[in-house]
Amino acid sequence: MLTQTILVTGGAGFIGSNFVLQWLRREDGTVVNLDKLTYAGNPGNLETVTGDERYRFVQGDICDRKLVSEVLQREHPRAIVHFAAESHVDRSIHGPDDFVRTNVNGTFALLEVARAYWTGLGEVERAGFRFLHISTDEVYGSLGPTDTAFSEAMAYAPNSPYAASKAGSDHLVRAYQHTYGLPTLTTNCSNNYGPHQFPEKLIPLVILHGMQGKPIPVYGDGQNVRDWLYVEDHCDAIRTVLARGRVGETYNIGGRNELRNMEVVETICGILDELRAGDPVMPHSQLITMVTDRPGHDRRYAMDAGKIERELGWRPQETFATGIRKTVEWYLAHEGWIAQVTSGNYRRWMAKQYAM
Ligand code: NAD
Ligand code: TYD
Repeated sequence: MLTQTILVTGGAGFIGSNFVLQWLRREDGTVVNLDKLTYAGNPGNLETVTGDERYRFVQGDICDRKLVSEVLQREHPRAIVHFAAESHVDRSIHGPDDFVRTNVNGTFALLEVARAYWTGLGEVERAGFRFLHISTDEVYGSLGPTDTAFSEAMAYAPNSPYAASKAGSDHLVRAYQHTYGLPTLTTNCSNNYGPHQFPEKLIPLVILHGMQGKPIPVYGDGQNVRDWLYVEDHCDAIRTVLARGRVGETYNIGGRNELRNMEVVETICGILDELRAGDPVMPHSQLITMVTDRPGHDRRYAMDAGKIERELGWRPQETFATGIRKTVEWYLAHEGWIAQVTSGNYRRWMAKQYAM
């Protein structure tokens, strides 16, 4: 008999940890979290559930087939929700190897082990099993200012090593469904923001530098557009797809919140002016510093989330205004978390990336 357990990969990272916490609040059954704990994985994100009998943590690499196979045989999950990845575009430009290793080879290894496990299940269990692959809008490439938003039917055109490695993993997932019948689902989501995001990404970086009175780096002309989604809304969409998504389908997820980077940065500065009026640099927007652009920087992303809305009835709950305020408030209330994640390695990355 399949248990009500699900196996999550990469559950100590930003979205994965929010997903594990939401799952334990909203669903029944146990969550087993397999995470390698790279620089981006932080067990502190899950400290509130470490004693929970429905939560188990396994430190390990998705490339380690023996380990993953043992976990599947021991836990007998009804689903795998696959978040584990290298996720930062700028790091993929400096060093693409880890991206190909984890995102392509790691997903391949996980699919192979999942296929063997699924093949060994009884007929009813096989029909109920799901492999849910979490991916990104970046696989579709870049839009011009008047282009229509990305739909599931659009051709892939990844531009960064990160996007290419995620596109490769999406294709493997598709092939495993088509060739072997593995019951897969894929979600492609736009930029997330919210608690636990590692401060190498735009939004937490701006909040931290604003709090600390450091220069806020904006690439190029600051006019690149991203479609922002609050992380809890993304987790809610993933639970919806896992429960009711059609096997073999992909679902685009987005917040219909297209904003230019400069608008995002100015909004955060405005909230900091209100909440931290005593900071030495006021207004915080004085910290904004234009820096050299990212090579190959995609100009605009926008998601058409019509399919998941129509077929599965999912809708985001947060607007950008409500979500960004919650996010800034979370970082202001968690200086201990910030101190923990911005140790030696983080400082070395910042020095390398922003040396210019
Ligand atoms: P993250 O970088 O915060 O976390 C990644 C997690 O995966 C970390 O806990 C890390 O330790 C773990 N990990 C990395 N390599 C591993 C390996 N080989 N084996 C096991 N664990 C490993 O990433 P995130 O922002 O939470 O993104 C999660 C997923 O969502 C990724 O697949 C990403 O491509 C996708 N996604 C992210 C966004 C976004 O805006 N952050 C948007 C759309 C899709
Ligand atoms: P990021 O958070 O890295 O997400 P992604 O590259 O996956 O969209 O970046 C979001 C946008 O912000 C992107 O257009 C690059 C830009 N950006 C800056 O302008 N300055 C920064 O320091 C960072 C990290 C990003």
